[in-house]
Amino acid sequence: DAAIQETSQQTEEFMGQFKLDDGQGYMTTDWGTPIDDLTSLKAGARGPTLMEDFAYRQKMQRFDHERIPERVVHARGAGVHGVFESFGNFTNITAASFLAEEGKKTPTFVRFSTVIGERGSGDAARDVRGFATRFYTDAGNLDIVGINLPIFFIQDAMQFPDMVHALKPQPDKQIPQAATAHDTAYDFFSQQPSTLNMLMLIMSGYSLPRSYRHMSGFGVHTMRMVTEEGDSKLIRWHWKSKQGTASLLWEEAQAINGKNPDYHRKDLWDAIENGAYPEYELGVQIMDEDQQLAFGFDVLDATKWIPEELVPITILGKMTLNANPTNYFAETESIGFQPGHVVRGIDFSEDPLLQGRLFSYLDTQVNRQGINFEQLPINRPRIPIHNNNRDGRGQQYIPVNNYAYSPNTLNNGFPKQANQTVGDGFFTAPNRRLTGPLIRELSPTFNDHWSQARMVWNSISAAEKQIVVNSLRFEVSQVQSQVIKQNFVIQLNRVSHDLASRVAAALVDVIVPEPDNTFYNTNSSAHISIFNTTLP
Ligand code: HEM
Repeated sequence: DAAIQETSQQTEEFMGQFKLDDGQGYMTTDWGTPIDDLTSLKAGARGPTLMEDFAYRQKMQRFDHERIPERVVHARGAGVHGVFESFGNFTNITAASFLAEEGKKTPTFVRFSTVIGERGSGDAARDVRGFATRFYTDAGNLDIVGINLPIFFIQDAMQFPDMVHALKPQPDKQIPQAATAHDTAYDFFSQQPSTLNMLMLIMSGYSLPRSYRHMSGFGVHTMRMVTEEGDSKLIRWHWKSKQGTASLLWEEAQAINGKNPDYHRKDLWDAIENGAYPEYELGVQIMDEDQQLAFGFDVLDATKWIPEELVPITILGKMTLNANPTNYFAETESIGFQPGHVVRGIDFSEDPLLQGRLFSYLDTQVNRQGINFEQLPINRPRIPIHNNNRDGRGQQYIPVNNYAYSPNTLNNGFPKQANQTVGDGFFTAPNRRLTGPLIRELSPTFNDHWSQARMVWNSISAAEKQIVVNSLRFEVSQVQSQVIKQNFVIQLNRVSHDLASRVAAALVDVIVPEPDNTFYNTNSSAHISIFNTTLP
């Protein structure tokens, strides 16, 4: 497609400005002095190296400083450039310019990742996969920082550090590496039942994708789209893999991780090199503002998916991934995705998990890369920026406006402020109304942790059930503490007595409680066909 080629060319040209070609010329220091850096400078043939040897000092110092902190989660990833194409003019639902015309192309960069493993860990771990997309739109950068599951473990950002500490290896032993196979994880799961719904999917094929090409993506949180006129709708983002979805079996995953821990990264790289460009359609579930509690759960609760029978997906466009990065560190490692990177026409919701993420990503990226991280080539918008931000370590720009304040008259009021309501810049949906007492509790509308988890169990085939049972038997049998095993089976019993009994049959001295009707009578109108993918 010529237009996709042209957009890719623009990406190539933009990134090309920053390329450094070391494949020619004399060896030089970073400040340009030609040198010989094969041997250090010594006092006599057998003498010690001299402190004076700037060629040695700089070479070693640059080596010593090569690493930046790895991401605190999602450290292991693979990135790729792409192009998004809008299928239509969607100004009826959003003022987002990248969706304003049929055929409009926008460059993108995607980073797929595992969550818990470190930067060098194996690709085929039983884990959630990150599916983070940056759109370099003509109205600023928009990120959808999603995963390959429609839901999350917890409902409030305050619990995120606890969750990650429970899932990562323990501080003393740092073993086992497997995220889901240790006492702290199952202690947390059994004490925090909001995790159960997602855990059901993790015990199925969703945590073992066949490749990054064969998985779909989900924004998870409810967000908002806002029109020029200020009308807002609630939305959830979806990426649908055009390759279809497919999973590995646990036995396959173990063999692959042993033979080729870079399996997913290599699959993606090779597919792009061979011209087999993966494609994903972007869609949204669109809801009215007054539907927030219409489905038997709260759409602000990130542990609930919204069934497609109730709210079908409207497809908006398609992304084609078609170029590997030139340099892993400069692109894949340095990209700083943020749920807070939004553009005009997109707005947040009051989901307390989303709200907490808005701080965490910005904060962690300052830690990882310094205050000027947005100036790195992969993070720069492809449009000019204008603001009064100044200085800081690693500043790349040379600001020419000498009046770094607003309001001003000396610079004729520039940079001028974009309209706060409806006009030419980002604006919050004008009809958002937030009132209420200050309260450190979750809403009672977030209370039902069991209905959707049960629906997963009741809706999958016998073969799929056996996969879930086998996974849980394996994982829970790794837990050392008898108390934690027992607590976990009590929670499973609240999802399904059948499930709990089958898992417990493989555990020693764990008692399955009687069926618990107080939990089974919880009600939700949700169905399951979002999981229309057949597991292997
Ligand atoms: C990465 C925090 C929930 C998807 C990260 C990072 C942090 C973080 C600190 C590392 C970012 C970096 O170093 O660049 C949190 C917090 C959460 C949360 C505090 C909840 C309160 C979620 C949810 C999703 C998600 C619900 C999916 C919908 C991702 C992805 C990445 C990531 C895909 C990797 C981005 C990349 O490839 O660079 N998260 N996260 N996170 N998070 Fe979250």
